Amino acid sequence: MHRFIALAALCLATPALSNTFDEVKVSAGKQLFDAECRRCHAVDSTDPSYGPPLENVLYRGAGTYPDYDYSTALSASGIVWTPAALRAWMADNDGFMPGTKMRHVGIEDRTVQDFILAYLTSITTQDNRAIEGQE
Ligand code: HEC
Repeated sequence: MHRFIALAALCLATPALSNTFDEVKVSAGKQLFDAECRRCHAVDSTDPSYGPPLENVLYRGAGTYPDYDYSTALSASGIVWTPAALRAWMADNDGFMPGTKMRHVGIEDRTVQDFILAYLTSITTQDNRAIEGQE
């Protein structure tokens, strides 16, 4: 009986717990982003940055941020920034896409990638898949 109650309590607690985990991941991701990416990437165009702003990057077409001067390699790549593509990019961007002008970052640790992905998801406020589907 006690075990049942404990299990029921755990099930009830799960949604709240996963929200907490998400918040922790986003804030850890922001710190990692600030350390590894922020010197070149702003979130939006109100803040000048050397690299393209990364708001709404999840499922955005590569090389499509308005008025950013991309390399030919990136703008002609035809890829979409899925979580898997973003992982490959963080791990080895210039190996993944020879000719890109983004300097090699080399974040191979999956947990660090997870955190940064959680942060990039948090600054994605439009559903790019739905928008692309409508075109
Ligand atoms: C030294 C500067 C620099 C750092 C550090 C850097 N980037 Fe970049 N990033 C760039 C530049 C420049 C581009 C444009 C590349 C091109 O046009 O080939 C770019 C492009 C990108 C793109 C493609 C965006 C698009 O609109 O298609 C993503 C995604 C990205 N960076 C993510 C990251 C992440 C995540 C980090 C941190 C882990 C990071 N970058 C660190 C300079 C940087």
